[in-house]
Amino acid sequence: MAINVDFKADTKNLSAEMPRHVAIIMDGNGRWAKSRGLPRTEGHRQGVKTVRNTVRLAHGLGIEYLTLFSFSSENWNRPASEVEFILGLLKRYIETDLEDLYRQNVRIQVIGSRSDLASGLRKLLTKAETRTQNCSGLTLVIAFNYGARDELARAVTKLAHDVAAGDLLPKDITSDRIEGYLDTSTVPDPDLIIRTSGEQRLSNFLLWQAAYSEFFFSPVHWPDFDDKAFEQAIYAFQNRDRRYGGLSAKAAQ
Ligand code: FPP
Repeated sequence: MAINVDFKADTKNLSAEMPRHVAIIMDGNGRWAKSRGLPRTEGHRQGVKTVRNTVRLAHGLGIEYLTLFSFSSENWNRPASEVEFILGLLKRYIETDLEDLYRQNVRIQVIGSRSDLASGLRKLLTKAETRTQNCSGLTLVIAFNYGARDELARAVTKLAHDVAAGDLLPKDITSDRIEGYLDTSTVPDPDLIIRTSGEQRLSNFLLWQAAYSEFFFSPVHWPDFDDKAFEQAIYAFQNRDRRYGGLSAKAAQ
């Protein structure tokens, strides 16, 4: 398969180990637009350009998984015109970029609830996953119509069905087993979660998976989140001491 990665990140400051999985809450499109006297939709349009650049950058840095929170299960509460616009952007992104992503060896996976999506959109998401299923470079996880509590509720429902059918015993419900019912069952937990635009909250994103994630809150609005801003987040991650409830190597001596 042709791999077309023409980008080499400036790794001189990033020689330490890369996070395997980076997840991003792309926030600040509306504020970016407002500060320029533009309609909010213009912020989302610019946001797609940042998506393209971030995928390219993550791929170039050798990150294995990149999850983008592109539409939450709560985003339906926005004005219908804005919802329509974001859905249209996502559709167009997949339609126009799918072959390019395939050539770049990027695998697409979509998490979130599909049951209440229009059938055309559902088909497009499945097409993107099927087309790229054998790609072995970066896995781009698109969180679409995603909410962590909804994901957990769907997982518990499936699990309860399996218990009721006698396929699973209550004593066998371990945390590993629960993970197998989540949308992210084939995706490792995020090592680093970035939120742009200064807000410092998780907003129903990957609640289970974030148990030991490192957080980085960037003041930059998503449309302005460039190579330098991404590299800053990676650099901060590389200087964290991850202990997973244990002791750091230094403290244990
Ligand atoms: C948050 O900014 C952004 C969103 C809710 C939508 C993000 C969607 C895209 C970037 C486009 C589609 C995605 C892909 C993967 C192609 P906000 O509107 O909440 O900003 P604000 O907090 O400043 O109002």
